[in-house]
Amino acid sequence: MSNDTIAEKIEAGESFVDPDDFEFDNADDDIDRENESTRDLLGRVSGALNRRSFMGNAAKAGAGAVALGALGSGSAAAYHEASDVDILNFALTLEHLEAAYYNEFLAEYDEFEIESADAIGAKFADPKLQFATWQEITSIRDHEEAHVEALTQTINDLGGTPVQAADYEFPYDSLESFVKFSNRVEAVGTSAYAGAAPFLDNEAVVKAGLSIHSVEARHTSYFGSLLPKSSMPNAFDPARSMDEVVGIVAPLIVSE
Ligand SMILES: [Fe+2]
Ligand SMILES: [Fe+2]
Repeated sequence: MSNDTIAEKIEAGESFVDPDDFEFDNADDDIDRENESTRDLLGRVSGALNRRSFMGNAAKAGAGAVALGALGSGSAAAYHEASDVDILNFALTLEHLEAAYYNEFLAEYDEFEIESADAIGAKFADPKLQFATWQEITSIRDHEEAHVEALTQTINDLGGTPVQAADYEFPYDSLESFVKFSNRVEAVGTSAYAGAAPFLDNEAVVKAGLSIHSVEARHTSYFGSLLPKSSMPNAFDPARSMDEVVGIVAPLIVSE
């Protein structure tokens, strides 16, 4: 991979992984994980993962600095390498957000409102489909809570400290905007798993991550089917870098 190719990919915001092109080092013991905020974690892991993707030819040319710019409070520590626990904590941060999102929605809208709304239930002419929409959204919420639980458990098993849920602000004000935003949230989650998985070292953790990844893709498709668009628009979905994911989800996290 030439430096030009890498620079082009950075410019285009594409992720790229060549396992021979970066070195891995889990030694980041000087980080004070107990006192680390969600934002610090996002910044540090994002920076570390971007640095890792530049290791090898590109890093030696100094390209790593490009990705470490706008990370706020996390940038000072961002030069550390990300461990599997860091990556899992990044995933857990997203799962906390998704679980909170659906819990908030389901507390706000009841079954009748969801299934009688043009934006959701009434999209399906078949009553069996229409009157399953509340249950489908409830199942998605249950999946997110199961993901939070599994990631928390795995991080504990690996000797890490699981990140806690934060406070969020979700930008929807109707069932119609909820469907659009849900489709977006799920697509971002799907692309985050695709972008992060190649950086995991532990094979069992890779398997677990992939089994969550395909479920997030189904969540994306479900909401896509409620919109005037295809539920599977691409032959190849994007794999977003941590930087890109942080840029999208950080505005939703309003406090630790
Ligand atoms: Fe999830
Ligand atoms: Fe999801």
